[in-house]
Amino acid sequence: MTATSPLSPLLKVISHGIASIEAGCAARGVSYPSLDTPLTPQSLAIQESFVTEALPVIAAAHQLMATLMNPRSFFNTLLFGSLQSVALGIAEAGHVAEILKEAGPEGKSAADIAKHTALDPQKLAHYLRFLSGLHVFKEVSPDHFVNNRVSALLDTGKPVSEIVAHPEAKYDGAPGLASLAAANSDEYLRAASYAVETSSNPRTSRSPDPSSSPLNIAFGTSADLFGWYELPQNASRMRRFANAAGSLHWTSPALGGFDWSTLPKGGLVVDVGGGTGEMVTELARSYKNLRYICQDQPQVIDQAKKIWHENGDVLNGTVQFHEHDYFTPQPIKNADAFILRFTLHDWSDPYSIKILKHLRDAATPKTKLIVIDAVLPYNCHSTGEWDDIPGGEQPTSPAPLLPNLGVASSDITYIDLLLLQVTNTTQRTVGELAHVLEESGWNLDCIHRFAPPAFPQSVASPA
Ligand SMILES: C[S@@+](CC[C@H](N)C(=O)[O-])C[C@H]1O[C@@H](n2cnc3c(N)ncnc32)[C@H](O)[C@@H]1O
Repeated sequence: MTATSPLSPLLKVISHGIASIEAGCAARGVSYPSLDTPLTPQSLAIQESFVTEALPVIAAAHQLMATLMNPRSFFNTLLFGSLQSVALGIAEAGHVAEILKEAGPEGKSAADIAKHTALDPQKLAHYLRFLSGLHVFKEVSPDHFVNNRVSALLDTGKPVSEIVAHPEAKYDGAPGLASLAAANSDEYLRAASYAVETSSNPRTSRSPDPSSSPLNIAFGTSADLFGWYELPQNASRMRRFANAAGSLHWTSPALGGFDWSTLPKGGLVVDVGGGTGEMVTELARSYKNLRYICQDQPQVIDQAKKIWHENGDVLNGTVQFHEHDYFTPQPIKNADAFILRFTLHDWSDPYSIKILKHLRDAATPKTKLIVIDAVLPYNCHSTGEWDDIPGGEQPTSPAPLLPNLGVASSDITYIDLLLLQVTNTTQRTVGELAHVLEESGWNLDCIHRFAPPAFPQSVASPA
């Protein structure tokens, strides 16, 4: 009997997925973008249209790497992973993506790239070579680099002359991930370097408080993340964060999950911590028979009113904006639905339960609660615990792949640990979500899931 190989089952997943992607491309007369294909909305759309086929291939390819590499070498790729953040931060600080975009296909030498900043050419070449080995930039001749599809994400789209003249405005209105790379190599990395200390110190390790994060220790502050950004000395970080937060690109379709038409005619939807009202105004365009209130902090509500005033009447007055602190009793007692979108993940359990209890106290027996946040998948096969809740069980992948597809679904797991560094919170698993709902008098009814990377809608009713 021949011993079974761990390799060929993975190869099979890869071959099957690639064949299906290539057949799909051929049927549509398009080519799958290579790493050298410019990053355009069209090429990205092609890539995204094959996400279902691509995810198992990505998971299998990474598992193949983990299997084939000497464990010591594979471990090193993880152990020194923070150096990837450092190198990306250096490339960003050197405006390398913008310089190489202006250079075109010829690219530029590290010496020429470094002329625009204080960076040392030789050291810069080492950082860029390291990144090129990870498929970010390409070294086309010794010390000479061009952009590729991945490095293009560092491009703010601004002329180098403008960035150099006004570095403080580099991220304003910019697409891409430059602001996130810069924040990551500054406040996030500094915070993360205190994670072990914060987790080992009994004063902070089990504390649920927003002032007990590694960021608090790193910067010697008792302010929570948002309060810290508002300190005068953090004005430029705050300006950068405004762009970086947007570039995280959290998506959750307003439509296609919870059936809003099941609410009574004239029913009231209240978006709690609703920001400037993107969710409710989107709903109001489709569900004209409902009324909407967006609640947030005074400064956000002022901003929302300005935005929507400039855009004309907010859908004939069907949307109203109210100031409300969600840690105080909810004043709207006749809501048919409360929404909490991208809100609970900012708060640990005791704080989330406080927010949820205020909504429960204001709920009628028929009020629905729609929580929109990532539901963090477990990395094991189901025990059936959530079988009786529609959508409660996250579909898992069959062996030999990891149940949650590992790196193929790592966008969520990175944010999960990033939250721990800066807000002392995490994304929640279905079990963790059900727990905070139960503790505050809500029952989890169902979870509407969308294709990745969109976040699901979890629907709850008064218990
Ligand atoms: C991540 S944003 C999400 C905004 C919106 N729900 C969305 O999905 O676009 C979190 C929001 O919570 C608001 N917020 C923070 N603390 C609050 C509080 N105590 N009461 C009400 N809103 C608050 C912030 O002003 C911000 O608009």
